[in-house]
Amino acid sequence: MAINRKDLLGIADLSADEISEILSTADAFKEVMQRPIRKVPTLRGKTVINFFVEASTRTRTSFELAAKYLSADVVNMSASSSSLVKGETLVDTALTLQALNPRVLIIRHNAPGSAHLMASTMQCSIVNAGDGQREHPTQALLDLFTMREATGRIEGLNVAIVGDILHSRVARSNILALTKMGAKVTLVGPKTLIPPFIEAYGVKVSHDLADVVPQADIIMALRIQWERIQENLLPSIREYSTRFCLNEKTLKHAKKTVKIMHPGPMNRGVEISPAVADGPRSLITDQVRNGLIVRMAILFLLSGGHHGELEN
Ligand code: CP
Repeated sequence: MAINRKDLLGIADLSADEISEILSTADAFKEVMQRPIRKVPTLRGKTVINFFVEASTRTRTSFELAAKYLSADVVNMSASSSSLVKGETLVDTALTLQALNPRVLIIRHNAPGSAHLMASTMQCSIVNAGDGQREHPTQALLDLFTMREATGRIEGLNVAIVGDILHSRVARSNILALTKMGAKVTLVGPKTLIPPFIEAYGVKVSHDLADVVPQADIIMALRIQWERIQENLLPSIREYSTRFCLNEKTLKHAKKTVKIMHPGPMNRGVEISPAVADGPRSLITDQVRNGLIVRMAILFLLSGGHHGELEN
């Protein structure tokens, strides 16, 4: 099956079948990456623009590598190196870039809906690499790939997401993806960092990490998104860490098989201890590694590929 869509703007738009197709295609790319020649010709002669208006290490680097492994010509742009700093609007930037005829544009921006604006202005495929606190679909897809690789399934998994859910695009995309694929999601954090009425998305809410840890197959820590917090939502970081940091003490009653995840960047000692982040239960490095193949799969499928083509 091919993915019959121009853009990847959010998990909200994807069906369970499309998510499965992306994960299966990423499986095929995992095998491609073991070959002596790791390049495939899908995007030969085509241009991919990596347009990051907001900071990124993981997403930006893995999209650049993914496009290069698919043989694309890659252009990297940041806000500071674009004419946005001279007052050009995002729509004018989109029209200017479209005139250069790219095949795909990947955008990260602090404004929710920015990827949708690019998609309605440009004829090329648009991939949302994070738009404000709305969605980060490729992070959720690589998270699902990593959970499935580590546990053999997604359906029926008990996944706890701990931290600043209110400001997190990673939480939003993971909630949508995990519930579509049949996982059971519990959100854990202080009341001020959990959106009201979020249970309507088919998730449970807890303010007590100790209640949730023993049932969890996967525990995902999220950082506090200070750059998006306007008011005083926490009495103190110290109190927050005592209640919600993943460490040997708070994980004492976890299953022996529990897996720990974090999308990064981490604030060690705040939401996760160094011993847990670097310990044997951690999938954090696998998440980064899988980001590359999942993003290759997304660029490949949006360019009309289907994973049968990748078989020897
Ligand atoms: N998880 C994530 O999006 O990381 P970066 O901000 O480094 O891309």
